[in-house]
Amino acid sequence: MQTDYLVIGSGIAGLTYALKVAQHFPEKQVTIITKAAADETNTKYAQGGIAVVNDLENDSFDKHIEDTLIAGDGLCNPEVVEIVVKEGPARVQEIINWGAQFDKDPEGDYKLGMEGGHSEFRILHYKDVTGKEMERALLAAVERAPNITIVKHCFVIDIITQHHLGYLVTKSTPDICCYGVYVLNTANNQIEKIISNTTLLATGGNGQVYRTTTNPYIATGDGVAMVYRAKGRIENMEFIQFHPTALYEAGKRGQAFLITEAVRGDGGILRNSSGEAFMERYDHRKDLAPRDIVARAIDNEMKIGGTEHVWLDCRHMETEKFKDHFPNIYEKCLSLGIDVAKHMIPVAPAAHYSCGGIKTDEWGRSSIKNLYACGECASTGLHGANRLASNSLLEAMVFAHRCYKSLLQTSSNRGGFAATPGQLSGVSSDESNTLQSGPCGAAAPSPATLERAGGEVPDWNAQGTSEPKEMILITQSLKELQQVMSDYVGIVRNTIRLERAIKRIDLLFEETEGLYQTSTVSPQLLELRNMITVGYLITKGASFRKESRGLHYNVDFPDKSDLVQNIVL
Ligand code: FAD
Ligand code: SIN
Repeated sequence: MQTDYLVIGSGIAGLTYALKVAQHFPEKQVTIITKAAADETNTKYAQGGIAVVNDLENDSFDKHIEDTLIAGDGLCNPEVVEIVVKEGPARVQEIINWGAQFDKDPEGDYKLGMEGGHSEFRILHYKDVTGKEMERALLAAVERAPNITIVKHCFVIDIITQHHLGYLVTKSTPDICCYGVYVLNTANNQIEKIISNTTLLATGGNGQVYRTTTNPYIATGDGVAMVYRAKGRIENMEFIQFHPTALYEAGKRGQAFLITEAVRGDGGILRNSSGEAFMERYDHRKDLAPRDIVARAIDNEMKIGGTEHVWLDCRHMETEKFKDHFPNIYEKCLSLGIDVAKHMIPVAPAAHYSCGGIKTDEWGRSSIKNLYACGECASTGLHGANRLASNSLLEAMVFAHRCYKSLLQTSSNRGGFAATPGQLSGVSSDESNTLQSGPCGAAAPSPATLERAGGEVPDWNAQGTSEPKEMILITQSLKELQQVMSDYVGIVRNTIRLERAIKRIDLLFEETEGLYQTSTVSPQLLELRNMITVGYLITKGASFRKESRGLHYNVDFPDKSDLVQNIVL
């Protein structure tokens, strides 16, 4: 199969980019591949909302920039922070134009929420199901676009590079180039290749690497693992954000229901097993301190009290107001016998967000040519060592737009498409000058040459493989990995634990590679393989970082180092 523009992932990042590209090139075909149902994404589960400067009387770009930089603990790229904050309002207006709704007060003004680390009320939201509403609006717009096809239940295995054409590719190969992807079509269990001029990875997060996570089952870090295998650059993987307040359900593993931070923004108070409102002992911002601080405080209180959770107390909040802002949470709690007006909610931290990922520049370009990355799988420099609440939906939209703008520029320089300066409006001449274009390096044919040659990319080679005899081996290895990551590479780390984790991950890697070389592939095996790679990258990043900063806390190196650096693997 060939397509003009290939998009991997149907969350906010992939859909936003696809819509823009399809609208600009009505005669071209945009193909979105997703490994699950179209809406099964992290995006769908986003609750709190989208941070954006809306009320210029009380808020300002400078304040949002400052809050983001403080949360990022010295590691944000200030230029990228400014880009995202300042371009954010225009992107939010676009999704509103595509049909997304946000709550308004009776006067018709947007209701603005408060979350940890924000100095002002600036979170646009739709009840407590903001992501579901945004995903709905985007999918409806995609449905209306005649030149976008969504291929569901197709698992992207690897990106195709010179490696697949028989060239030696190493980390120091200067012009690694992406020609498309190999996919496992789960409808017929065939592995097919898709050739494309440009590919966007928007594969989301990796929370499933841990025993409990707010992320759905699709969040297995596939994009990061693919780029790492292809010898592209990955950075800052050690910064895994644990959300302080996932609903605690005894014995449950996998996806945990989130109790949005906006509940604390509206007055919810964390209490320990003795009923004490403990956050004031940890930070002057109390329950609304940045997430790394709140999650570590809860972890500490659970250790001191020997409990598996703390409590979120909402009993003093106005019930009708609670129901109006958080109907989904209210119903979920009630279904478990928790009436928030009378009972406290048991909560515990859970893996939530990957701040690092595929290293990109300010136009979403990865280190591999013709390969963009945006959304949670990318590391743009916005989040630094800790993401500010509700900044990720914003980042995904801003960078989807920037990938699209860069694509226009590259297409026009290639002479392939008719992008005029007028069509590039919104990109200042300065910005245009910073875009590099050009075909892949001389070491390998460009995708267009490949296409003319009738496709030199070989078919997938499944020789020597057979159905795995015991699927249970895959399930058991996954449980082991999640256990290792949760026990040794969690909220509080130390050197011995990280060393232990690496040894165990090495063993899991060896066993799983053995299985991969001899078995016909399945989504379960492919995900396990990717999650082992991601677990390795998180642990390696954590071992290399000899300091404590933001989300990475190592008791053997409790202070910040003077050397402020990104860890690139
Ligand atoms: P996703 O929305 O996760 O989409 C990833 C897509 O990639 C999916 O379609 C998936 O099927 C596909 N995919 C992955 N691997 C493959 C493969 N191998 N082959 C084919 N397809 C593949 N952020 C905020 O800013 N505000 C919030 O209020 C907020 N609340 C959150 C609440 C929860 C419970 C969670 C989990 C996250 C929340 N976040 C929030 C974070 C935010 O939702 C995500 O970071 C963001 O939605 C990620 O969007 P994305 O498009 O990058 O990825
Ligand atoms: C939440 O609603 O608490 C999650 C917000 C986020 O992850 O940005």
